[in-house]
Amino acid sequence: MIVKIAPRRKPFSGRIEIPPDKSLTHRAFMLSAVAEGVCEVTNPLDSKDCLATRRCLELCGIRFEKIGEGFKISGEIEEPPDVLFAANSGTTARILTGLLSGYPIYFTVSGDESLKQRPMKRITAPLKEMGATIIGRKEEGFLPISVKGGNLKAISTSLPVASAQVKSAIIFAALRAEGKTEIQEPHRTRDHTERLLNALGAHIEVKGRLVKVGPSKIPPFSFKVPADPSSCAFFAAAAMVTEGSHIVMEEVLLNPTRIEFLKVFREMGAEIHWEEREKRLGEPVGVVEVKHSPHLKGITLSGERIPLVIDEIPIIAMVATQAEGRTVIKDAKELRVKESDRIAATVRELKRMGAEVEELEDGLIIEGPAKLKGTRVFSHRDHRIAMMLAVAGLIAEGETEIEEGEWVDISFPHFFKMITR
Ligand code: S3P
Repeated sequence: MIVKIAPRRKPFSGRIEIPPDKSLTHRAFMLSAVAEGVCEVTNPLDSKDCLATRRCLELCGIRFEKIGEGFKISGEIEEPPDVLFAANSGTTARILTGLLSGYPIYFTVSGDESLKQRPMKRITAPLKEMGATIIGRKEEGFLPISVKGGNLKAISTSLPVASAQVKSAIIFAALRAEGKTEIQEPHRTRDHTERLLNALGAHIEVKGRLVKVGPSKIPPFSFKVPADPSSCAFFAAAAMVTEGSHIVMEEVLLNPTRIEFLKVFREMGAEIHWEEREKRLGEPVGVVEVKHSPHLKGITLSGERIPLVIDEIPIIAMVATQAEGRTVIKDAKELRVKESDRIAATVRELKRMGAEVEELEDGLIIEGPAKLKGTRVFSHRDHRIAMMLAVAGLIAEGETEIEEGEWVDISFPHFFKMITR
């Protein structure tokens, strides 16, 4: 589907309702599946990725009963009678494989064309070390992978890549392994699994970048999923670059491992404020306010900050095209193995729109400010690339046409309706 974006002449103003957080919806569903008793997850994200997690869990015997704003989740994990299809969702494939490996069942996980090209050795290697029997394509490097789980033993491991999905896969497996598992991260990554488990009384300790997890029983819980900061980033960016804008987004997840992009935008000169209002199972939730920011400047982004902005780099790059001077983003090679090669996709499409962007092996360099022009661009079948291009289209001269724009459904189904309203 081609989505047409016309230049926007009006400011963004008022309250904007951002959809629920994707990472927390996946985790709330998975934690409900391992909890002892009936859980309630309200305000879950209703998007393709989260649907993939729900469908896989349903195939494993977990019941999702619709209640008002969410689900009552019950049942116990059983051997699935068919292949678990994770669709486009890396979070589903990786964390669910870890979770199910703790049970004495046989299962196979597969995914769509994109997911079948994404690296899986990072989870199959530690899970094998814990005692799961795993076979998979290209020596357990890629989906489909088949697992016979159960009888796991604790391991002590140092992760080769900074990845919350890998960390979470091992944590879920460790909940049913014998002994205390230790996971050392190279850099800090999003810590939702640790926070939720800690709030639920599981045996988990976090000291800096070291996580220790022991076998734990999870009590039933209720959780209302807050708004997704990564989705909020697109509206924040749109408001920053559109004259006269002033927007407020409420009930946004403000976990420090997820809101580094707010600090990046502020460093670039954005008028942006946020404030915590409450905690939900250890997760800070609050309000974000953004105003039009006419004096943006380029910055350098690298090292340990990269995993904290990993999903926001395409939109940061787009904002950098409107900032004075040079923006350098490096140490971000991991972006090449996301839903698309996000370095190549961002560079190619922003260049088509007239931006001055240079591709690096592990990042990109943007020279700003540039006058963007509307043209035909491609989403690369990646939700975050499609949304970034839509924001670029709003400030471009002339119409922008996004090929395969429908991929926004992965994390933000009503995105186009909202951003063009
Ligand atoms: C996620 C972790 C990140 C992120 C993804 C969601 C999660 O992936 O890019 O969108 O929910 O744990 P990696 O762990 O592969 O970096």
